[in-house]
Amino acid sequence: MVRIHDALDTATSGATEQDGGQTAFDMHLDGVPLEQGQHEGAGPSAAVVSRDTEDRLDAVNRQPDMKLVVISNRVAPFDPNKPQTGGLAAGLEPVVERSGALWMGSSDTRGDGTEQPLPLVKTGAGAVARLDLPEADYPGYYRGFSNSTLWPALHSLRQRMSGSEGDYDSYRNVNAFIAQAAFDVRDLDAFWVHDYHLLPLAAELHRLGIDRPTGFFLHTPWPAPDMIERVPHHRELMKMMLEYDLLGFQTNRDLNNFLAGLRVYFGLESKDGIVTTERGQTRLQQFPIGIDPKQFAEYLAADLSPVEEEKLSSLLEKFEGSKFAIGVDRLDYTKGIDKRVQAFNHVLAANPGSISLLQIAPSSRADVGEYQKYKEDVENAISLVNAEHGTDERKAIHYTNDSFSQAALARLYRAAHVGLVTPLRDGMNLVAKEYVAAQDPNDPGVLVLSKFAGAAEDFSDDEALLIDPNNPEEIADAISKATNMPLEERVMRWRSMMDKIESYTIHDWSADYLRELDKSRITVPADQFHHLGLGWTNEAKMPLHQDYAAALTAYNEIEPAAAALKEAAYADVKSAFEVLAAPLKHTQDRLWDSPAPPASQDIASTPTLQSSTRPTMEDTARRTVPRP
Ligand code: F6P
Repeated sequence: MVRIHDALDTATSGATEQDGGQTAFDMHLDGVPLEQGQHEGAGPSAAVVSRDTEDRLDAVNRQPDMKLVVISNRVAPFDPNKPQTGGLAAGLEPVVERSGALWMGSSDTRGDGTEQPLPLVKTGAGAVARLDLPEADYPGYYRGFSNSTLWPALHSLRQRMSGSEGDYDSYRNVNAFIAQAAFDVRDLDAFWVHDYHLLPLAAELHRLGIDRPTGFFLHTPWPAPDMIERVPHHRELMKMMLEYDLLGFQTNRDLNNFLAGLRVYFGLESKDGIVTTERGQTRLQQFPIGIDPKQFAEYLAADLSPVEEEKLSSLLEKFEGSKFAIGVDRLDYTKGIDKRVQAFNHVLAANPGSISLLQIAPSSRADVGEYQKYKEDVENAISLVNAEHGTDERKAIHYTNDSFSQAALARLYRAAHVGLVTPLRDGMNLVAKEYVAAQDPNDPGVLVLSKFAGAAEDFSDDEALLIDPNNPEEIADAISKATNMPLEERVMRWRSMMDKIESYTIHDWSADYLRELDKSRITVPADQFHHLGLGWTNEAKMPLHQDYAAALTAYNEIEPAAAALKEAAYADVKSAFEVLAAPLKHTQDRLWDSPAPPASQDIASTPTLQSSTRPTMEDTARRTVPRP
């Protein structure tokens, strides 16, 4: 185990001041041994399937050239034989493997909360660092605030919410711990933080003086203001979210809900997708996450391990000679599995034996009370349907908590006549897209999709069969319609969805996000600047300017004869100036482009910001800090 900052300290021969230690970082990574079974330049998925490398590298190449730190709670396993848990891991794995990013997240073991070396493991072009999060705070952070308070609230399920004040403290402590670990890589170009576990992380990074462009992407929905206000400390959390330079949401609904919250709680309005606060500016935008459809098609041809091959054959045998629908969900109450099972009861009561269900539901967050209860509810409902409609030879619903590799899932999706994606709410739900991508173009299955999944903003009623996931009768009608849909209609619906999936892949998603984050390197656009005679500053930084002005007044009021007092007052002026100047430093050093001034503005009076003409910090300091 090696610390990046050790490398930064010692590998001076290759690192210049100008590259911010990046050369040292690269050199350091070169020295990190590959994880067992991994080969440089070929990520785990490449071990399973051959890649249409050029196409994908094209998309990666459209990303800005930045050394990126990705931070999330869960980190992908980077092992083709291990299943992915959730859309976040599936989505980020290819980004990290190919872009050379460093991905930090939680390990499976806990620590004592003391600072630890960054445990780097190289993966593809990138690296992963799994942190042992502090034992004392982990339950309150993960089981408590993240998954018993925030998760149900974000999915608008207030009756599932619980938690205690201690949970929030633990949540904040773990965020502070992760920020501290990220201090080692403070000199890399940008930070991309993911999901609700880490809402305060940018604030914690800033507290440590880390001021690189920092973006956040929320994989879950964001609810309306009257729901989020049930979350303790929601105002503080939202305020801390505005410490990010870029906030990304899955859908317009989520983005609009967040903007409505800013209006209700802070009276803040966005202008052209930008919100300006005391800290600076936050850009807010929708980025609908996608999949890699080519890779998914390749999975269909990939070899499985002998054990999984055997498991798959015996599973498919159970459905031989009949139609079946498939549901693949973490066993989570947001996924609507219970209502789906009730829908099957209706379908089979009306048309016995017309179709059966394969429900794959890997256990999830099993130490959270609501999840244990939900598991029992689902299993009881399945037993009832099987007792009513099953036979000794054939179950109406085949249910398993087993996990499957992506390659095995692709084959199961392909074999299933209907894909059931019926969450009560969902950020996007990549299973919907994966099901479509795995279909036979000449004989595709039909997608039944919740209108409250993010994917329903991508797929219209002419494509998927959109349903209300709370209404088993409506789901049942859609299942029957899908089961009997003529080939021509199935092909038409499928083609249209597939075109959309192909036109905006996971690589487009990450490239788009990172391009936007790159723009955040300008924290204050030209039309917001005002020249105050004290260097450049912006309206939002006025309180800092007032500190400076007060110190300067005090300094001027002291008689020159009182040399010691004068010296002390100068120290105050200098430190107030440094606070004023700090946030401007990277703005001025890293200007990338500047938006056109609004039409109404007098262009002649607006200072033009171009890196060649703007004053350097040294110029500004010379002009504005008085010498005693
Ligand atoms: O995609 C939503 C999400 O909550 C991710 O944040 C998470 O990684 C995944 O589902 C699985 O949840 P968990 O990590 O709690 O098992």
